[in-house]
Amino acid sequence: MTVSSAPGKVYLFGEHAVVYGEPAVPCAIERRARVSVEPRSDDHVRVVAEDLSLDGFTVEYEGSTRTQPDVDVDESLLSAATGYVDAAVRQAREAADAPEAGFDITVESDIPLGAGLGSSAAVVVAGIDAATRALGEPIDDREIARRAYRAEYEVQDGQASRADTFCSAVGGAVRVEGDDCTTLEAPNLPLVVGFDGGAGDTGKLVAGVRDLKDTHGFAADTVASIGDIVREGERLLAAADPDAGPDSELLDGLGELMDFNHGLLSALGVSARSLDSMVWAARDAGAHGAKLTGAGGGGCIVALDSSPETETALSFTQGCVDAFRAELATEGVRREDR
Ligand code: PMV
Repeated sequence: MTVSSAPGKVYLFGEHAVVYGEPAVPCAIERRARVSVEPRSDDHVRVVAEDLSLDGFTVEYEGSTRTQPDVDVDESLLSAATGYVDAAVRQAREAADAPEAGFDITVESDIPLGAGLGSSAAVVVAGIDAATRALGEPIDDREIARRAYRAEYEVQDGQASRADTFCSAVGGAVRVEGDDCTTLEAPNLPLVVGFDGGAGDTGKLVAGVRDLKDTHGFAADTVASIGDIVREGERLLAAADPDAGPDSELLDGLGELMDFNHGLLSALGVSARSLDSMVWAARDAGAHGAKLTGAGGGGCIVALDSSPETETALSFTQGCVDAFRAELATEGVRREDR
């Protein structure tokens, strides 16, 4: 059996605008999806997916037969989760030139599903790595990132940037601008995540921004301004010593830009009352800055705070179901064969 894990991510800056060619800076975090793969003697694929939400559920399917779990879980999230595994299997079969390969697959994840932490990218990245290795045809991290992007692109009907998949495959802080993906030197930032227990519909939210941008010039300017925020954030990161740990001047600078970024995402209509409450709770608790992460609509926020105050304040905030400190994951996809 081959086992691979891959990290989730938060967006320090730049979600949504990245869809229109602006740069974005996601950071991989130590919350992982783990995919175990055992090749089968037939061409079937059987998937057991547990813990893909906070409550956890199991889905098993063979060919097109799927057993609905007996817990209350959103059907669209469920088919999305299995759709990503299917897409990863297609990529692995193609990479290994084994179109008929069958697998028993187990997915475990401690990344909330569809909540802006890159859960699907982590499952796809870990799945492609574990499945190609199971077929004796391992591929390198960059090729995993390329194939994982194609898998997400397919499942999300063309509404995907390379940000999540590249970040999950290579780890650390990265910069994505169109097809250009690079790693960044960044200090270990004190990231705190708040989760409202919900999920946003990425496709719908991306389409909403597109409509707004097509209709109003100010929305196009807003997208361009997010790009300016990202470039300014990159300059601050580049000037910092990656080994020294972040000083308060850097954290204040980055935090201010995160606050601006959240304001502009709100203007584009992708925030939510729960996300705004958590952002304000973090700021009131003394965080350097806070913003939603990912597509928005519901899900997670990310704040910068070295003290425990923000995590504590979030855990008492109405609408926040989980608050945790998220370490930067310097390693992307990881081989964990048992
Ligand atoms: O919510 P997530 O983690 O799927 O992030 C979506 C980020 C967007 O910029 C809105 C879309 C994308 O593919 O980059």
